[in-house]
Amino acid sequence: MKILSQIIPFVFSTVKEYRIDESHAVGHAFDVLHHAHVNWKSSLESYPHLEDQQNVIYTSALVHDLCDAKYVDPHKGLAKIQYYLAGQTELSPVEIGAVSSIITTMSYSKVRKKGFPTLGTYQYAYHIVREADLLAAYSPDRSILYNMYCVDPHWKQACKNAHNLMRNRVWKHGQDKLFLTPYGKTLYKEYEAESRRRMDVWLQILQDSTMTTGTSGMDLHKTGYLYSSVDTGGTGGGGTVDV
Ligand SMILES: [Fe+2]
Repeated sequence: MKILSQIIPFVFSTVKEYRIDESHAVGHAFDVLHHAHVNWKSSLESYPHLEDQQNVIYTSALVHDLCDAKYVDPHKGLAKIQYYLAGQTELSPVEIGAVSSIITTMSYSKVRKKGFPTLGTYQYAYHIVREADLLAAYSPDRSILYNMYCVDPHWKQACKNAHNLMRNRVWKHGQDKLFLTPYGKTLYKEYEAESRRRMDVWLQILQDSTMTTGTSGMDLHKTGYLYSSVDTGGTGGGGTVDV
């Protein structure tokens, strides 16, 4: 597959140039590519037109965070992506347009604000890439890392922000009807269960660490240190940040 050899080096160099932290760097791009590939493959029988959209799906999955406002001016980021795709890849102008449309409308916040775009023949490809990114959001560790790199370097606050993000957003993806494909609809439940288990362990680590630093015996709910009791009004910085 030629497109991957054309895109992956671009992702590496751009991540380095924008100093994108590990929460949104190449590992995340690979994670999204992985989900997008499996979903694409399992959707081919029902949606045979996707056969010709593999390059658009792979490219969108890999470059989607290279125009993210958290790391770069989105217009500049998009212009750089389009310039590269036009000059260094086999993608046609129509395919570059499709990639551009997908990556500029797929984020959680844009969907919540404006709903799903109408992308014609690329509609299902859009959902495949968007859902792949949503599935990557179930990791509390990744959210903690993002918070520590970009919001608050203190790990305890980062845990609190990650917990807020999970409760206020990620664990509501299902009820918010954000998964439309059979792949996403099936997998998110498993991911949510694992995410809850992992967040619980982080909360235990946090509680144990608090107790060994002098608050042993206190009711941690009353102190506000047990985060299931924390108000999640969205002013804590990072608690509602896109991942
Ligand atoms: Fe992403």
